[in-house]
Amino acid sequence: MPGAHHWWQSAVIYQIYPRSFQDSNGDGVGDLPGITRRLDYLQELGVDAIWLSPIFPSPMADFGYDVADYVGVDPLFGTMADFDQLLQEAHARGLRVLLDLVPNHSSDEHPWFVQSRSSRDNPYRDWYIWRDPAPDGGPPNNWLSNFGGPAWRFDEATGQYYLHLFDPKQPDLNWRNPAVRQAIYDAMRFWYRKGVDGFRVDVIWMLIKHADFPDNPPDPDWTPEMMPGQRLRRLYDQGQPEVHQVIREMRAVNDEFPERVLIGEIYMPVEELVAYYGPALDEVHLPFNFNLVTLREWGALVVRDLVDRYEATLPDGAWPNWVLGNHDQPRIASRVGHPLARLAQMLLLSLRGTPTLYYGDELGMEDVPIPPERVVDPQGLRMPGFSRDPQRSPMLWERGPGAGFSSGEPWLPLAADYATRNVAAQRADGRSMLSFTRRLLELRRASMALSLGSYRPLNSGDRHVYAYLREHGGERMLVALNFGGEPCAVELGVTARGRIQASTSMDRDGEVDLGALELRPHEGLLIRV
Ligand code: NOJ
Repeated sequence: MPGAHHWWQSAVIYQIYPRSFQDSNGDGVGDLPGITRRLDYLQELGVDAIWLSPIFPSPMADFGYDVADYVGVDPLFGTMADFDQLLQEAHARGLRVLLDLVPNHSSDEHPWFVQSRSSRDNPYRDWYIWRDPAPDGGPPNNWLSNFGGPAWRFDEATGQYYLHLFDPKQPDLNWRNPAVRQAIYDAMRFWYRKGVDGFRVDVIWMLIKHADFPDNPPDPDWTPEMMPGQRLRRLYDQGQPEVHQVIREMRAVNDEFPERVLIGEIYMPVEELVAYYGPALDEVHLPFNFNLVTLREWGALVVRDLVDRYEATLPDGAWPNWVLGNHDQPRIASRVGHPLARLAQMLLLSLRGTPTLYYGDELGMEDVPIPPERVVDPQGLRMPGFSRDPQRSPMLWERGPGAGFSSGEPWLPLAADYATRNVAAQRADGRSMLSFTRRLLELRRASMALSLGSYRPLNSGDRHVYAYLREHGGERMLVALNFGGEPCAVELGVTARGRIQASTSMDRDGEVDLGALELRPHEGLLIRV
């Protein structure tokens, strides 16, 4: 990347699920003053930006993804003054703050929807998506909710159905209505005037639905282990061509303010995902790339293939990004196990493009099993087996009561291993996942090759080893990742010498001969050439 770059290109983003990060008042739920208290930790960790999952007033039917006021703070999380303080203290430490914009749907308790459902001729009626029943009185079409069951709810009062692609308490806003768009843009401006540095936009590719509401066809590839909502191919309720126009409009609002970043939540294969950068790079700066999260098989060849396809398909000037985990997906340590989770962390933090780290993954936190009577996630309540509670369990700070997260009863159970897997314990251990992550972040920050340099895959001579070079100016960093469970000798076809900067088990350093590189099972090395 020659010359100037945007802050978010060289940044590492850290996702905080506010309910689960740090409680400050003993109610068992994390809050804004709690996050402020932990800013020193985040600075010491070495990330550049925090993204907060929704903090707005909400009935919490989907834990904040059901917004009842786009320009407020839910009392559970604190006050607007608490937010202002968090923003100010984050900025004072050089940390940027991103918020979560949830424009596809509001809460059914939002005043807009309360108005909308009150009568067919209410001025807000067309702010949501209302349709007459089908001739048999059933839902207008066969669309399914992401949380299971039909995507339509009949409203007795006015005799029509409203659309909800998620919970019935999350009615979809009508993005074909310009008034809706302006209302959300005004909310963006409100937070931007305060100095917020960007937005992650919830399900941005779902904003526009097909104008004629056709039935979705069945998906022949659906199997019973998959979510019920995936039984149909999502042809008409998401990913419509007109959504790009809307995203461009949102980007223009974003660009009324200098150096703000717009990130879109979009689950898609890389070939389709890249369309969301926009024809003139005028849509989202970063369409979240979840392809490492959705990867079924975790091996050198598949990962290399994914990275190379992504790199090859990125439009000119588009900046890549990578995600390993979030509040909707099983944690990386649970998906692939601890040795490969370390390898994945090295991958995430050494690939070209902005990485997003999910809170707790720096400790190797695992999904926490939740007894059925404690399940609270609406997705898990409707579709047993698909609960997202396990990946939302509280951050583990220390071995004391409540893991340092809360002096009260945490809203979700703590991980059973919290007495040993916590920040304090791992800080004291030079080989811990935390120390390893800190080392990677420190290297990335100090190295132009890692933060902004080019990417070139190398043939490793072994189908279990994925190796690549990152290069900037004269600086060269080599990454070699052994996904296999056997030791191996890597043949990179180079004769240079290098110095190890980081190893996955944090127990190797010094010079190595790149012509005779040996990797232990599941070992990754980051080497300065
Ligand atoms: C995506 C969010 O990440 C998820 O947590 C939420 O349930 C849905 N969008 C609906 O807002």
